[in-house]
Amino acid sequence: MRLFVAAEIPPEVQEKLASVRGASRDPAWRWVAAGNVHLTLKFLGETDEGRVPRIKEELAAVCRPLTPFELGLTGLGTLPPLRPPAEGDRRTPRPPRVLYAGLDRGTVELRRLALVIEDAAAKLGFQKERRLFTPHATLARVRKEQRPRDAMELLGRFGGESFGVWRCGGITLFLSELGPGGARYTALGEFPFGI
Ligand code: 2AM
Repeated sequence: MRLFVAAEIPPEVQEKLASVRGASRDPAWRWVAAGNVHLTLKFLGETDEGRVPRIKEELAAVCRPLTPFELGLTGLGTLPPLRPPAEGDRRTPRPPRVLYAGLDRGTVELRRLALVIEDAAAKLGFQKERRLFTPHATLARVRKEQRPRDAMELLGRFGGESFGVWRCGGITLFLSELGPGGARYTALGEFPFGI
């Protein structure tokens, strides 16, 4: 089973995030299903079901000493980042692959949380992530061989827009099932801070 650990995003923030999809007519984007946007903390990948109880134990232990903190999402970004070519730069800019909402509150706490989860996962034998943790909430991915044309416009339109602030009081272990209609996520366990 394909597993990952994430901080969930409350329904009222999900609703505001959905307004981005509503503002785009570009078929190159494959949108994350309504209500499924999250902040990934650790992608565990393909994992034997028998390991789940130990993973749950470890996540509960990681969360026990923690206290809730505020998170907030504002504005949009792409990966790789969109940037106008500098004068004289003839390289073709790399097209975006991912459209995300950016975290503008709780970044330090979320990074710290990702680090302790990373350590806990390493203790259980999961591979360490080599890439730097960049907190982001993926809203859409670009379809194969396609190139979205409205990325710059969306980034401009939602630049200063706050999608909401909420209290992050725990983390969730998710099962991800990939299918033709996109990924389906199921919460296998919720781990509140301080319990
Ligand atoms: P993304 O939002 O940056 O695409 C469930 O698939 C979550 O796990 C997604 O949010 C995705 O992050 C992340 N994910 C999927 N495949 C991954 C991989 N190979 N390495 C790291 N994260 C991955």
